[in-house]
Parts: sequence; structure tokens; C-alpha cells
Amino acid sequence: AVVDNQYRTVFHFQPPRNWINDPNGPMYYNGIYHFFYQYNPYGAVWGNIVWGHSVSTDLINWIAVEPALYPSKPFDVNGCWSGSATILPGNKPVILYTGVDPKNRQVQNIAFPKNLSDPYLREWVKPDYNPIMDPDSGVNASAFRDPTTAWYGSDGHWRLVVGSKRKHRGLAIMYRSKDFIHWIKAKHPLHSANGTGMWECPDFYPVSMEGKLGVDTAEYGNGLKYVLKNSLDVTRYEYYTLGTYLRDIDRYIPDGTSADDGSGLRYDYGNFYASKTFYDEGKKRRILWGWSNESDSSLDDVGKGWAGIEAIPRAVWLDTNGRQLIQWPVEEIETLRGKQVSVMNKNVKSGEVVEVSGIMTSQADVEVTFQLSTLDKIEPFDSMWTDPQKLCEQKGADVTGGVGPFGLLALASANREEQTAVFFRLYSSPKGYIGLMCHDPSRSTVRPGLYKPTFGGWVDVDIKKNGMLSLRSLIDRSVVESFGAEGRTCITSRVYPSVAVDGDAHLFVFNNGAEDVKISELKAWEMMKPSMNGI
Ligand code: FRU
Repeated sequence: AVVDNQYRTVFHFQPPRNWINDPNGPMYYNGIYHFFYQYNPYGAVWGNIVWGHSVSTDLINWIAVEPALYPSKPFDVNGCWSGSATILPGNKPVILYTGVDPKNRQVQNIAFPKNLSDPYLREWVKPDYNPIMDPDSGVNASAFRDPTTAWYGSDGHWRLVVGSKRKHRGLAIMYRSKDFIHWIKAKHPLHSANGTGMWECPDFYPVSMEGKLGVDTAEYGNGLKYVLKNSLDVTRYEYYTLGTYLRDIDRYIPDGTSADDGSGLRYDYGNFYASKTFYDEGKKRRILWGWSNESDSSLDDVGKGWAGIEAIPRAVWLDTNGRQLIQWPVEEIETLRGKQVSVMNKNVKSGEVVEVSGIMTSQADVEVTFQLSTLDKIEPFDSMWTDPQKLCEQKGADVTGGVGPFGLLALASANREEQTAVFFRLYSSPKGYIGLMCHDPSRSTVRPGLYKPTFGGWVDVDIKKNGMLSLRSLIDRSVVESFGAEGRTCITSRVYPSVAVDGDAHLFVFNNGAEDVKISELKAWEMMKPSMNGI
């Protein structure tokens, strides 16, 4: 119980206890946000999977209701796995999900709310005509899951994709239906890519080429690009590409501006998986939910009685350069900001560490803008550096550099024996400046034996323009969720400090680069506790 309090998050989505994984069927319906999630009602390890269900009016305060789907019929007796919601014409929500049948085959099922006048849609009905999609002869019955939200085509047919694989080729198998109940597998997948393995939790949606507003999944026309995201069960990372949807032939063609082999763009370069977006009709935005697994051991999870959190929901839109997405925590999170401190125009010399004091930083929202007045000491980029995570592993926070490493030391103990470093390094190349963003949790805890992976991603930003680089980190006891360069590169880490807890957690700004950097502005807020599923 002591461990439980120590690491439990305060403003990240968590049920009171037990195991959670993927976000499922997020939707906004009649003024209420519904959030479902893979949940084990009986323990802190994966198993006995049901659809946990919570409702909210602000994505921040959550009310837990009873599980929406639990194994009860032959078509889902071995588990109610991931899926999505679609709101049908006439304002009628439906859920499509993967059921695991008595032969352990993965099948797709449909469920309807029992009573549309219940604002919380507590009860869901699974008709006996399920399953509505069976793995046929061409499909691997143990690699056929996670149906997407469906969209309506100009020919009057619904479409969706289901994640799968053929040998090592990841597949987004397409299905079409006239009535949403009878589904026919299309001859060709919407898209596939060799060498990636199984595509779990595919997500396919349009983004506007201008502005931050989201668009409904069924939108089609000029001024839109499409996003296809897949979660790779082999590497436990997800990646996305931007591209074109050729509706007449139901094919997705990636732009080719980032790799389509699992090594390309990610929503998050850290611990973030099985994510899913939905269109929020209320605020006209697209919102991304993702699961952040524990990185302690199963034994630790059983000891603390819970495992898994959901990352803070993020608004997603297309960068003006058209090459990548931008993500930013939903604005509602700012309502939890309490006591604030700020630092203005403070130079951080080479080798210097500056403490940000005056608030509790074990649960905090920190926004900082760094100004780089000179880049004279910038180091050259080595073209052999192709993997940002490896580069961050080689060059942790203590490895000095030219411009950077500079950034934050979160969840640090007073003597910095414990710290989770969030930082940038800049390099020059013939093509221009290259930014690297890292999470280095190698000193996140003095507890021995924990898994403490370093994470990293490139930062696609024009530093030359104004010499500014920004960073926002949401710190919540056992998670550090960072948004670099206004949400262009995101990294989430799970960490388990043993000293830097509650009032003993400190926050610092550090600079181990040869070049001085200036904190143009830093604001840090203590974060208040929302109502979180009755906790
Ligand atoms: C992804 C996943 C899905 C599956 C679910 C089972 O984390 O493996 O593919 O539907 O979790 O809990």
C-alpha cells in the first residue's frame, strides 16, 4: 500500500486499481466524453480483459461506471479486446471490438447502447448474430484485431480496417458494409508494409492542411491529408505516416517524407502504445489517447496493486511544414494548474544547474522557452547517427556537448542522486541545424534492478529563425511526459524515484553544453488533483 501511494499518478487517467492497457472507443456523445480501456478487474497483470468505462465532461475529471463489455458470449468468451466507436447517422453510437472465441480465434463484434437516454450509456448489448467479421481462410486467426472507427464513402458503403499480418508484412485489412452489420472483406488492404510484423490498433483519419481544427473521420476532399498509425507488437513502438487516401480504389499512399518501415515518425518516442484518436465534435478537434505501460516489474505491479496509465489526452494537428503532426495536451489540463513560479531572462552558464523552487514539483506542469543567442560552439552532425534513441543512449545528460545538452532535471532529489533528465542537443549539418531531444532516466531511481530505457527523437524545427526552443513537461509522480518544440517531438517515460517523492522532489534547469543558454521564460505550476474514478 505504501508503494501504491508513492507511484500512483494524480492527474493521469487511472482506475482505482488493477491492470489497464489500450484506450478503446473514445468518443464525444451528447456533451459527454466516453473513455473505455482494456482492463483486468481481477489483478495487476494482463488477463480477463473487459472494457472498463469512464465518463467525463472535461477529459480531466472522470466518473467510473460499470464495465461496458465483458466476456459473456461464445464470440468473446476469452476476452473483449480493443476496438473503436463510430457515431452512426441519427446520432447513434456503436462499438466494434475484437472478441476472442472458444477456439482462441480473434473475431470482430458489434455492440449497441441498451438505452440511448442514459447519458452515461452504462449498458451495452451484444447481439447474438455476432461475430460480424470472421478470420477467413486468408487471414491468420491469431493476428486479426482492433477494428478502427468506420467512415462512410460516397458510394453509400461503410469502411473500416482491422489490424493483421501476413508473414512479416503488416496489414490494414479493409472491410465494407452497406448496413454496418454485414461486412465484406475487400480484395486489397487499405495499406500494408513489409518487415513491420503485426499491425495492432491501426488508426486512420484525415487532418486539415491548415490550422489546428480537427476533422471528422468521414471527411473527404481538398485541403486534407491522411494519417495512418500502427502499433508494432514486435518492437512495442508505434509509427505513423502522412499520405493521400485514394477513395475510388480505397488505397492509402504515404507521402514518402518519412519511413514506412517502423523507423519513421512517432507520436511519442517513449513509453506510449496502442493509441487511438477520435474527433471531438464539441470543440472541433482531434484528440489522441495512448497507453503508458509500467517499466517496473510485474512483481512490483502486483505489490502496488495496479499497472498502466493513460497519457494525457492530446490535441493533434498537422505542422505547417506538412511533414509531421503536432500534439499538445488538451487545454482543459490547465484548469488543474495551482500555485505558480516563474523564472525570466536567466542565463544558464555552461555547466550550471539552476533550481526552480517554490512549488511542489512531484506533480507539476512546466513550460520553458530557451533562447540560444550564439551557436558558435555547435558540434558537427555525424551522418552515421541514424537512430536518435541510440544517440541519446550514447550521449546522456552528463555527456558534455557544444550546444546542449540543456533542459530539465525532473523528479530529482536534492543532491541530484536521483533525476530524470529531459533535454536537447543541437548539431550542424550541411543541410542545416539538427535537433535531438532525449529522456535520460538512467538516474531516475536509486532502487536497483529497474528498467530505465533512454528515449530520443529528432526535432524538426528551424532554430535559426529566432533562436528559440521550447519544452513542456507534465510531471506526475511516476511519469514524465514531455512536449518539445511546441509539440513537435514528444517523449513519455515511467520512472520510480525512491527519494524524489512528494516534498522531496526537486526541479532543476541544467546546461552541460559549452555554449551558455538563456531561460527566456519558465513557468511551473503545481498540479491539483482532479476526481479520478472515485480516487
Ligand atoms: C495492444 C493489444 C491489442 C489487443 C489488446 C488486448 O496492446 O495487444 O492488439 O486487442 O492489446 O488487450
